[in-house]
Amino acid sequence: MCGIVAYAGDERAAEIIYSGLEKLEYRGYDSAGITTLCDGSFYTVKRSGRVLGLSQYLGNMCGSTGIGHTRWATHGEASDINAHPHCCNRFAVVHNGIIENYSAVKVELVARGHTFLSQTDSEVVAHLLDEYYDGNLIAAVNKTCARLTGCWALAILCKDYEGFVAVRRGSPVIMARGADGYFAASDIPAVAACAEEYCVLEEGDIALISRSECKIFSDGTTSVSRTFVPVEKEQTDGLGEDCPHYMLREIRSNARTIRATCEKFPLAAGGGLYERLRRADKIVLVGCGTAYNAALSAKRLLCGAYDGFVEAVIASEARYNPPAVTKNSVVIAVSQSGETADTVRAAGILKEAGAYLVAVTNTGYSVITRIADKVLPVCAGVEICVAATKSYTGQLACFHLMASLPDYSCRRRELLRVADEVEKLACDELNSLRIAQLCVSSRAVFFIGRGGDADVATEASLKLKEVSYIFSDGYPAGELKHGTLALIDEDVLSVVIICDQSLAEKSKNAVEQILSRRGKVAVVTTLKSVYDELESRVSAAWLLPPVPAHLSHFVSAEALQLVAYRTAVLAGRDPDKPRNLAKSVTVE
Ligand code: AGP
Repeated sequence: MCGIVAYAGDERAAEIIYSGLEKLEYRGYDSAGITTLCDGSFYTVKRSGRVLGLSQYLGNMCGSTGIGHTRWATHGEASDINAHPHCCNRFAVVHNGIIENYSAVKVELVARGHTFLSQTDSEVVAHLLDEYYDGNLIAAVNKTCARLTGCWALAILCKDYEGFVAVRRGSPVIMARGADGYFAASDIPAVAACAEEYCVLEEGDIALISRSECKIFSDGTTSVSRTFVPVEKEQTDGLGEDCPHYMLREIRSNARTIRATCEKFPLAAGGGLYERLRRADKIVLVGCGTAYNAALSAKRLLCGAYDGFVEAVIASEARYNPPAVTKNSVVIAVSQSGETADTVRAAGILKEAGAYLVAVTNTGYSVITRIADKVLPVCAGVEICVAATKSYTGQLACFHLMASLPDYSCRRRELLRVADEVEKLACDELNSLRIAQLCVSSRAVFFIGRGGDADVATEASLKLKEVSYIFSDGYPAGELKHGTLALIDEDVLSVVIICDQSLAEKSKNAVEQILSRRGKVAVVTTLKSVYDELESRVSAAWLLPPVPAHLSHFVSAEALQLVAYRTAVLAGRDPDKPRNLAKSVTVE
């Protein structure tokens, strides 16, 4: 949710910051901007639209110090004027987060003669800095932060200082150094190409960074040192003709993610995790969006494995209405990014109430890992597409292993076999395209299933709607007759997932109810008997590899990820950057 990059070094800042912003575009892509500092003057370009829109202006931007931003709008529409950086006299600022009291501060500043140009909350930061600055930059930053409520990561330029200031309060900031200078950014990919080492700023840190020095103040005044660790240069395959989008590339990494998660699990799962889970009076899973959908599957797996009461809760609800926990409870925060504000906040509240906090995350240096008592890694690698795919698969793998403690060797073998099926399935074009063609010609698409298939239906629906913008819903098949059937007609598609033999007869009833009302049906099944029986009667039927019911979500979810992807492409959408969305939702 907004990406910031700052640089002070020996090279031209504009190009370095631009490359960093390209890597952070998954965090927001409605507008972007860069300011460089050269001989005491600012050079600013900011435009609505993608980062690419800045490229033609870089040549005119001198200076080897600068800041940049890619925006996901909260306050004020996506426009040139609302794009960051925001400037006021000697200051230029980029901001990730929300300034909650901006309105009151703005009224006060306007009364003191300040003129605001944008509708953003962020612009008040530049004006406050200008108001408080008397030659002492850190003092001005401290006073500014003291006036604000909300959350922020800031990068600040001041015309009097040949460097920048980075501030962390509630939104992530990493600092990095390489042969050619220092960087600050919202996330590591922004600096991975140029930096050798990075450190994560702690809450409240203020860093003063120039090409030759980096000073960090923990509470605005006390100088501290933070530990730098090497930047892992992750090998990511480029996009090519056979893989034109990150979404497809990441779906094709599902198998690799299962294998890698199985490999790392033994190292992470020690330290009494099994005993905690075994003795837990309650296990609470908390997450948002896809992570919450993975938590729904986790609930089934953990319920069967442990005695305590298991529930899955949506983080944005739990944050205001937290479930009761005790010191014997285990809370599992599920988050690909580890940054999602609702999840971090809910997990923090439950931990404060005494629960033991486990983070299941794909991002080892994220906010959630810093508050968790235990971290279980999802080894999906960097996920660039806004729609979560391989991270969901990795979360499922992690929950299978958790549910099989203390001796998970048998489940691990099963998972590795499933990974082989998942790998083959990822090459499918014919079946996924057939169902995608039905989706794209439908007014609405419902995904239904029973038991574990219902959880996959929920996730499949989220995936389809976010990348194709087609209305969709997903829920237990038995619920169809309790209302939704009223919406079924020849323009509506129902995708029926049937992967559990014991529930197949009942799911077939739902198919009959839809067909009787002239609705279109696509069946996705691992069961040959179901496929043979329905294939000639429905608009499309896809026979998936015959994996056991308790593992079938790996193949059915992947099949429906492919359907969502192909539907988006047929509909002419950009599956990697759906409108209105961003990858890391760091605002509440
Ligand atoms: C998934 O496709 C979505 N883009 C979204 O629902 C996402 O899963 C949610 O915002 C949670 O993100 P997290 O896993 O990083 O916490």
